[in-house]
Parts: sequence; C-alpha cells; structure tokens
Amino acid sequence: MTFSRNISRLPDFHCLEVQRRHEVLLEKSAVESEHIAALSGDGGLKVENANHMIENVIGVYSLPIGIATNFIVNGQEVLIPMVIEESSVVAGASLAAKLARSGGGFQAKSTPPEMIGQIQVLDLDDVDRAQSALLANKQIVIDSAMDVDPVITELGGGVRDLEVRVVHESPIGPFLIAHLIYDTRDAMGANAVNTATEFVAPVIEEITGGRVHLRILSNLADRRLAGASVTIPLDELGFANYDAKQVRDGIIEAWAFASVDPYRAATHNKGIMNGVDAVVIATGNDWRAIEAGAHAYTSRSGSYTSLSKWTVDKNGSLCGEIEMPMAIGIVGGATRVHPSARANLELLGVRSSSQLAEIIVCVGLAQNLAALRALATEGIQRGHMGLHARQLAIAAGAEGSNVDLIARKMVSENDIRLDRASELLQ
Ligand code: MEV
Repeated sequence: MTFSRNISRLPDFHCLEVQRRHEVLLEKSAVESEHIAALSGDGGLKVENANHMIENVIGVYSLPIGIATNFIVNGQEVLIPMVIEESSVVAGASLAAKLARSGGGFQAKSTPPEMIGQIQVLDLDDVDRAQSALLANKQIVIDSAMDVDPVITELGGGVRDLEVRVVHESPIGPFLIAHLIYDTRDAMGANAVNTATEFVAPVIEEITGGRVHLRILSNLADRRLAGASVTIPLDELGFANYDAKQVRDGIIEAWAFASVDPYRAATHNKGIMNGVDAVVIATGNDWRAIEAGAHAYTSRSGSYTSLSKWTVDKNGSLCGEIEMPMAIGIVGGATRVHPSARANLELLGVRSSSQLAEIIVCVGLAQNLAALRALATEGIQRGHMGLHARQLAIAAGAEGSNVDLIARKMVSENDIRLDRASELLQ
C-alpha cells in the first residue's frame, strides 16, 4: 500500500498494524522518527518530567492516541491526533470528514486570541463614580501591565483594552468588575493574564479608592472564538437502507431537539466535546478551560442550548455550523513539556494558536455530524458494539488473537457481556 504525501484521505489506515501506521505518518506528515517515538508506548511523558508538572507524583497515566483521517480544513489536508478512551469517536470524526470532502471540507475562522482577566473592586462609596474614574484613566491601567510578559509583547500581543461594569445588586452590595483584555498570541495565556491582573490591582485601587479582591482570568473566553462551517451535498448522505433526504432531515430534526431542550443539548454538546477535548488533550491544552468556556458560551441567551446548528441550503445540501470559545495555545504549559503533545503539534503542522483553534472546532462539528447521523438512523449502539466487545474481551483477560475471536463471537451472538467474554475465554 502506498500513500502520497500530505493527503489525509487514508482509506485503509484502520486496517494497518500500529507499526505500519507509524510509517504512513512519517511518509505523509511533518513528523520525524523522534516524534513517532514520543507517541508510542514508553516514549511519552517520563515520570521525572511529570514530577516537575504537578505535586506528589507517583507515575504517569496513558490513554490511546488515534488519528482522524479525511479532514480538509480551509483547503488544507490535515491528519488529526485524538487522545480519548471512548471507542467510535475517532472513526466517527473520520467518517464525517469523509462526507465533508466532496463539499470542499470544513471552512473555519477565529477572532484574535484575546483573553479576559477579571478584577473585582469592592468597598466603593459610589460605584458609578468609580467606573467613570477608571474609564477616564484606563490608559494608565493598560500601560501598567503592558510589559508583564515581554515575549508576548514582542510577538505583537499585550493588553488591548479595559472594560468596566457596575454590579448594583449582589449578596454583598454594589461592586465593580474590570475586564483587562489581553492578546496572548500563541499562548493559552492563563499565566500572563493572571499576572497582569495582579499587576494592575494597586493601580486600580489608587484610581477608584476601592479594594481589589479577586484577580483572575475568565474561562468564558468570548473574545477568543473559533467557528467552523461545513456543507454536505445531499448525495453523500444516503447509506444502507437510508435515503439521503431521510438522513439529512433526520439530522436537522435531531439538532432541533437539542436547540430547545437542555437535557438533550447537554448530550448533543457532550458529543461535540468528544472531538474537541480529544484534540485539546492531544496537544497538551487545558480541556477543563475549554469545557467551562463552551458550556457558559452556549448559555449566553439565558438558556442552555446546542453549540452547533444544522440547516438545508437552496441546493438541498446539509449545512452545519459551530462557534465556541477556544482558549488554547501552541507554546507554554504542557504543549512544550509533554513530548507527545509536541509530536502531535508537529503532526498537525499548526503554526499559530488560531490555526489550532480552527482545526479543533472542525473536529467538534464533524463529531456532532457523526453522532447525529447515527442517532437519526441506525442508533448509536451498532457502531459501538465491535469495539465495546473487544474492550470486554480484554477486561476478561484475553490477549493477542483471542481478543478479536471472543469479540466477534459475542457480536455474532448479540450477547456482549463481561461474563460471556470470561466464559468464552475459559
Ligand atoms: C456519546 O459519547 C456521545 C453522544 O451521546 C452524542 C449525542 O447524543 O449527540 C452519541
């Protein structure tokens, strides 16, 4: 089997041995053998390095890394590394990306990487007067934090603005909230933003006469958004006994459910986050920050709703879109310390945090399409069962070729249980 370079369409990738998949990656992407080593087994994070990352380290914890194929993002072919323990996620993303190819793949865009640092100002005699004073002197505040991170400043980032809001009623009475807007360029920027909020606190106290209490970044990073859209030609949607129109309309009906019902929206968005988090983790980024931002952003109208939207265009094609905060980086934090994260960034070939953010939202949209397509037709369990059966076989103690043998038997019997796997193993 031969593959041409830089093409993410790898029809037989899933049939290959792991070793051969490595060779394909070497052939088709910018990764080198040292990166492959960092992605396989014991080549990843060493306990000595882990010991410098958090406290009381006793070891490292592994998860599978899979490659989602078929992706085209803004005209570029891209192989997507995903770190996840759940079966069918990588296959789902790859399938949806395959459907998207004939419509030109995914289009994505992002806003500048501006983070928000919050400063809470208490003990003010007159909150409105304090707000006016702070706004009148905002350049002094901005200048005081400009050089907090000289590297970010040199790369063209830094403090962009100061916004001030008054809270007239709260359990502790009126107070001020100042938002320091900080362009963190290719860093996620939590450290820079938190340092900047601490820097400006005394300046804000002097201007307002109040007492600064909290100084911390906001995970509702709604000035650092990434969005994606996709058009799937109607012809691509039919499969098995399902007519293309039935699949298309079924997907829109499923989305409509999530758009009005928070119980369904939570599960719908969980499916999106299956894809989003898997790439966020693969690249060493903070998935809790992304989760918090996503769910807060999608509640901005006052009720919790879907992160995505599915409609039909005038040609009858299925159109999907998504937008969410994407506070990720390609420098700093674990992105550079964790050898597998470094290798995955190389594999993605991204040169900026914005590029990575745009790829991640495309994976979220693809994951959503795969889940809705399955739910609107044959149901989600059919696709899950093969891998689930293999996991049970392994849990029962099966090894080598026994894993597939036992899994296949359980699937053919339609009886996929741990005790059955143990019985078959005996
Ligand atoms: C399972 O991890 C994700 C789904 O529940 C998403 C959805 O229901 O849309 C299949």
